[in-house]
Amino acid sequence: MAKLTKMAMNNKALVLFPLPFQGHINPMLQLANILYTKGFKIIIIHTNFNSPNPSNYPQFTFKSISDGLSTSKDKSLNLDTTNHAINFMNKSCIDPFAVCLAKLLEVEPVACLISDALWHFTQSITDRLKLKRIVLRTSSMSCIPLYAALVLGEKSYYKTTIKEELALMTEMDIEKIYKGGLEKAKAELICNMINETKAASGIIFNTFKELEEPAFLAISQVFQIPSFAIGPFHTYFPVSHSSLIEQDRSSISWLDQQPVHSVVYVSFGSIAQMSESEFTNMAWGLANSKQRFLWVVRPGSVTGSQWLEALPKGFAEEVVERGRIVKWAPQQEVLAHQAIGCFWTHNGWNSTLESICEGVPMICSPCSYDQPINARYVTDVWKIGVMLDNREEAGKIIKRVIMGKEGSEMRHRSKSLQEKVNQSLQKGGSACQSLENLVDSILSF
Ligand code: UDX
Repeated sequence: MAKLTKMAMNNKALVLFPLPFQGHINPMLQLANILYTKGFKIIIIHTNFNSPNPSNYPQFTFKSISDGLSTSKDKSLNLDTTNHAINFMNKSCIDPFAVCLAKLLEVEPVACLISDALWHFTQSITDRLKLKRIVLRTSSMSCIPLYAALVLGEKSYYKTTIKEELALMTEMDIEKIYKGGLEKAKAELICNMINETKAASGIIFNTFKELEEPAFLAISQVFQIPSFAIGPFHTYFPVSHSSLIEQDRSSISWLDQQPVHSVVYVSFGSIAQMSESEFTNMAWGLANSKQRFLWVVRPGSVTGSQWLEALPKGFAEEVVERGRIVKWAPQQEVLAHQAIGCFWTHNGWNSTLESICEGVPMICSPCSYDQPINARYVTDVWKIGVMLDNREEAGKIIKRVIMGKEGSEMRHRSKSLQEKVNQSLQKGGSACQSLENLVDSILSF
């Protein structure tokens, strides 16, 4: 009865605004589906760049806005890195977004805007339009206090809240977060993201309490706003359809022919770039491991190559019987496949969660952003993976994880973490309760 009353009250729409990158679009559209089942009408505002496919979501309304990326005539503009592109769009989208949102408000009762935290410009627009704004942070919760301390220099966190995280991190981890020094674009982005989130009405995380317990205290010191940890989002529905690149389904038919727990799945997400020598070392690592592998090499991810030009001579012949390379895979289904023995990953937060939810041990080679801290949790806190910094050692480490006792122990611990996920999502569990709190909070606006 209470449920029915709540559903009936949800006659207001929610406007969601995903950041146009795969690791951000996936969780935002999963969140849209979750809130749709709670009775809200969903309107997605999206940029023309990396636009999601509306035909995969007939239940939502889509509104596209210009992002200025393809039309910019400023030749000096450096959009080579994701940070620069995001900073650029945080300026170029101001007017198109404000116009689109104002028009919507004229014809729809809207409860609030749910914006990616990295769309920091949206706070001042919702302030002007007197609309509440909740942010979605798509990375781990743990990385936020660390960013606040390292990037904003809010040193008080060093001594108190993030002591545990800092104790985990090596100098190399911190160097990776900075990646070649704390470049101005990244510092500007993180600074704006944190400051504008402080002014929001709430923050949603794709995590759950039992997974990142220490971060819960720290987060309440960084942001004095309600936080809702309702993840992992992807577990609410069978598979999502928000892939920007076509997923190669032959990966699954190939896995069907491989023995149980025998295959290393290798993928470094949608943004990470690697040098030719890092790529070559990975290839030899896979060859030397003598294990079966499914390797996602995203076109353009190896600097200076279109796709596989940098593969070392002799590699294809060496691995022909036991290896498969694809441009993009149906990752969630791959990780759920019984043939998968471990996941060699960059520890993007979505990949990390997807692996945890399938009980798959990880080999961790984080690149930047939140990935180094995610990887430390995997290896040192949850103990469901091993760190691989030197890719030349890949062969040895893959063998250890796929064939050794250590691998089966990690698989065992991973299964018990998987059970915690399930408990958290059940009635009375922390994520389930947090979702109820989120709905109540939105209804109170
Ligand atoms: C980025 C950051 O790197 C990450 O740390 C942050 O938390 C979110 O934004 P990305 O690097 O793309 O994301 O990694 P990740 O978070 O793992 O997201 C990749 C998504 O693409 C996953 O949902 C994964 O399932 C999907 N994917 C990846 C595929 O569908 N097919 C593939 O072949 C590879």
